[in-house]
This record gives sequence, structure tokens and C-alpha cells, in this order.
Amino acid sequence: MIICDDCLNVLKKIESDTIDMVYLDPPFFSQKVQCMKASNGVEYKFSDIWENKGEYLKYMKFRIQEIKKALKKTGSIFLHCDNSASHNLRIILDEVFGEENFRSEIIWTYKRWSNAKKGLMPGHQTIFFYSKTSDFKFNTIYHEYSPTTNIDQILQERIRNGNGKVSYKYDEIGNIVLAKEKKGVPMSDVWEIPFLNPKAKERTGYPTQKPIELLEKIIEISTNEGDCILDPFCGSGTALVAAKMLNRRYIGIDKSPSAVELCHQRLEAPIKTESRLLRVGADAYRTKTDEELAILNMLECDVVQRNKGIDGFLKKFYLGAPVAVKIQKPYESFAEAIDLLNHAGKRKKCSFTVLIRTLEGLVDSEILVPSNMIVLDELKLQLGVKLSKYDKKIMQR
Ligand SMILES: C[S@@+](CC[C@H](N)C(=O)[O-])C[C@H]1O[C@@H](n2cnc3c(N)ncnc32)[C@H](O)[C@@H]1O
Repeated sequence: MIICDDCLNVLKKIESDTIDMVYLDPPFFSQKVQCMKASNGVEYKFSDIWENKGEYLKYMKFRIQEIKKALKKTGSIFLHCDNSASHNLRIILDEVFGEENFRSEIIWTYKRWSNAKKGLMPGHQTIFFYSKTSDFKFNTIYHEYSPTTNIDQILQERIRNGNGKVSYKYDEIGNIVLAKEKKGVPMSDVWEIPFLNPKAKERTGYPTQKPIELLEKIIEISTNEGDCILDPFCGSGTALVAAKMLNRRYIGIDKSPSAVELCHQRLEAPIKTESRLLRVGADAYRTKTDEELAILNMLECDVVQRNKGIDGFLKKFYLGAPVAVKIQKPYESFAEAIDLLNHAGKRKKCSFTVLIRTLEGLVDSEILVPSNMIVLDELKLQLGVKLSKYDKKIMQR
């Protein structure tokens, strides 16, 4: 069900103790009008401008109080916010739900590449998780062990001695004691989930749209199939789409008619972007060998992954433009490497390019090297060439 109204009006009418989980992603007190144009030309916007913070917090408190009433005893609230007012909202949640019902401060972290402001680049948002009582629903999700976990940590029972120091447990005759079967590492409160990129399939063009992946995690840990989820600031309907995909019932509220219309459209044909980063992990994006990384570090480069023509850029521009660096691959001829780097360098508007030759082959004079390309022989190759010259001299004697 999706309702177009101020959520306060609707929340007041919801029967007490009926909702399993509420996720709310309200205006954050950004003091901006959030506005975006979708690819079909429709402009979506909502105002996040307030007279002052007091007004904003009062508005939030009224709604949080009603949410608590609507929740079942086993229910939970997940309040999404950022550093504009997270510290104030946490105090309100403590007041309304009780400090003892604080469960987690979930950090949703993502990569960003630029920062308009002086200072540290913001790279996370916060989701406060409170339960209505201590008898709340919770499903633990387990992750794979990290590559640094050693086999004993997984298999062996551990004990804590009188000083609180943890060590492996051995029986009376010195044999190791096996631990109980483990399911993996329980999910932590820091979640790395990519921000929706402009080309993501699930992107609707709604400002501040959140990824379905994030909502799925919240729904999975706090509810079971058939449970009822409420999103009182549903926007483009991300929580509702995630709920539908996970066989939960949902109620969405938004005061913007165009948001409600968009929710209906999305729910008719839900689309979720498969994040390759989440599926295969960040390591799959690393394409450089240790040797290549050592060369790029020596030249003081920013490393570029997954590009055939360029392996890195010098940190310093030359003649006001970037300088691309490529290391010849074992399967590339010298001519092919020149060609790939030259084309990629032109596309990226580089003033110069640097090719690190790693294989002996045709000499430079026999192949046309562009005038703005510097060719350097890799150290091992230089040494090999020098030594073979000595060999030749000795042979001639
Ligand atoms: C941050 S957006 C939600 C984005 C959403 N989570 C998504 O993934 O698309 C906040 C939404 O709250 C709505 N809103 C603001 N005040 C409201 C109110 N009092 N009642 C209902 N909706 C409201 C806005 O129209 C906007 O769509």
C-alpha cells in the first residue's frame, strides 16, 4: 500500500502494535531543495529547508513518537541520517525508545572521488537501529572469514585466562580442543555498499535515492517473510521494492504525488542493479602484478586498474596535462604496447606518455615511437641487455 500524505497524519491512524519494522529516510536538515531530473525529463524534488534546527527536530520527534506506537513489541526502527543532525536525532531516539533499546549505529560507507569542501571527504551515512523492547526480532547474517584469518582461529576453541588474555584451549594431555562448527563472521555495523552510479539500472532519477542492496540488508536482519514494513518517507520507494523482492508486506507514505507515482511504477517492474564490486569483491578489480605496482610506485603514479592502454598516471601533471604510464605486458609486442598507450593517452588528453618496455624485441629505431612518448627499459631488461653485451665481448676475445 502507498499513501500520498504527510506521514504524521497517516501514522496517527495506524493501529498500535501492528508494524514489524520501520525504515525512515527523512530530509536530513541539509537546508537545500533536493532536486533532480530523470532521464525521461520528469523533475523530482523535495524541500529540506527549515527555519532552524529546533523546528526540524520537533517535526522529527512527533513522527518518531508515532512510529514507536505503531511498532509491534518485537519491532524495530531504522532511522537513516547524516552528520547534519545525527547527533540530535540520536538523543531524540534515546528519549522516545529508551537508551536501553539502542541496538546499533550502522555506518553505510561508500567510495567517493571528490570533495568540494575543505576537510575530510564525507564517505558515510548513519542508520540508527533501535528496538521497541528487548524482545526484538533479529536474524544474524554471516560473512566469509577474511583472508587474514588463520585456520586455528576457525577450528580451535579459545579460552580467556584470569588476566583476560585469550589463548587456544588444550585438553589435559595437550591435544587441541575443537571449537563448535562456525557459520562465518557475524555481519558488523559497518556496511560497504556502493552509491548508485548515474548509469545504475535501478536508478530512477529521484534525488537521494538509496540502493536496494542497503534496504535488503536492513529488512533481512530485522524481519521474516510475510512481516509488515513501513517507510513513512518512501521517496522513490526503495524500501518497498526491497520488501517486495524479499516477500514482505509494505506500507509506503510520501507527501509528494510524483514520488508516489514513481513508487507504483517501480513496484510494477522492480529492477535491482547487480553490484559487481559486492559480488566479486574489491580484489577482483586489482589487475596489477606486484612487479607492476613496484614500477608504478617508483615513478610516483596513481594506479589505474582495468584499462588496456594505461596502468597509471604520474601524480604530477606536465605542461598542464596528465602523463599516462603503461607497462608492456608479456603478451604484447612493443608495437602493440605503443599503439594502445598512444590511443589511450590521446583520449585522456595527456601531454606525454611513458612506456616501460619489459621485453626484448625490435629496437626503437625500427618502430615509430610518437614524439610525446618516452620509452624506458625496465631494470631487469636493462640488466639483461648490459650482461649480454659483456657476454658478446668475452665471446669475441
Ligand atoms: C530522502 S527522501 C527518501 C528517499 C528514499 N529513501 C529513496 O530511496 O528514494 C525523503 C522523502 O520524504 C518525503 N517527505 C518529506 N516530508 C514528508 C512528510 N512530512 N511526510 C511524508 N513524506 C515526506 C519527500 O517528498 C522525499 O520523497
